[in-house]
Amino acid sequence: MSATASISVRGLEKSYKDNQVLRGVDFEVARGTIFALLGSNGAGKTTAVRILSTLLKPDAGAALVEDASVVEEAQRVREAISLTGQFAAVDEILTGRENLILVAKLRHLPSPGDVADGLLKRFDLVEAGGRKVATYSGGMRRRLDIAMSLIGSPSVIFLDEPTTGLDPEARLEVWRVVRELTAQGTTVLLTTQYLEEAEQLADRIAILHGGTIIANGTLAELKAMLPPAKVEYVEKQPSLEEIFLSLTGSTQAGTHQGGQS
Ligand SMILES: Nc1ncnc2c1ncn2[C@@H]1O[C@H](COP(=O)(O)OP(=O)(O)OP(=O)(O)O)[C@@H](O)[C@H]1O
Ligand SMILES: [Mg+2]
Repeated sequence: MSATASISVRGLEKSYKDNQVLRGVDFEVARGTIFALLGSNGAGKTTAVRILSTLLKPDAGAALVEDASVVEEAQRVREAISLTGQFAAVDEILTGRENLILVAKLRHLPSPGDVADGLLKRFDLVEAGGRKVATYSGGMRRRLDIAMSLIGSPSVIFLDEPTTGLDPEARLEVWRVVRELTAQGTTVLLTTQYLEEAEQLADRIAILHGGTIIANGTLAELKAMLPPAKVEYVEKQPSLEEIFLSLTGSTQAGTHQGGQS
């Protein structure tokens, strides 16, 4: 496995009863990059994230996060990562600043107040910092959520659908914040159903479909995968959406069917 990989996944399998969700998933994420795991509803994105963040055991396969096995060295993995999404631990009756201080204290950091103030500034929440989270908009809440996940400087951050349910403006705010994460060398794995989000944020994009990764590359590489016959007649660059639909066989243009069933 590559020395620069922050996450590497080999042959990951997971079933729920007779529902085979992951049928041999392979991918690597280079340190300090943003990797988007793209897939339709029920493709298994959250399942993969839960396995990588040690919340769920795979049936087969191996996954390393910062060189620690998610199964055999779960504690080491937990020390290296943070997870935001449906497990967001934001407390509504506390202020944004109080939430940040609480997490900094839980992580035994010196000067929790300074940590909180630094993050409020960085996430454009200085004015909101003294208000109860219950009064925040969806975008402010999601920014606070991501800010909380940064406390203790995790090497790897998992963002499971970071912008689902947000309006376009709030989505842009979250994108800005996510882009900044990698500036410090943090590795980000995000899942999304929004092709545009993957297109905007990710260094590499992998499409999870039928239990396997059916495409994995930079946006340019994925665009080059579109069947040549189609490219010839398309004057503009193909969008990721066209590539996605083509590869997942969701339209008549599809050339691949994904899964093995
Ligand atoms: N705890 C569970 N028990 C049984 N089946 C589950 C469980 N969790 C997920 N599944 C099933 O596994 C499949 C993959 O679910 P998963 O949540 O990983 O998909 P997803 O790609 O994250 O979807 P979404 O885009 O809707 O979040 C779905 O068919 C789902 O119903
Ligand atoms: Mg999900």
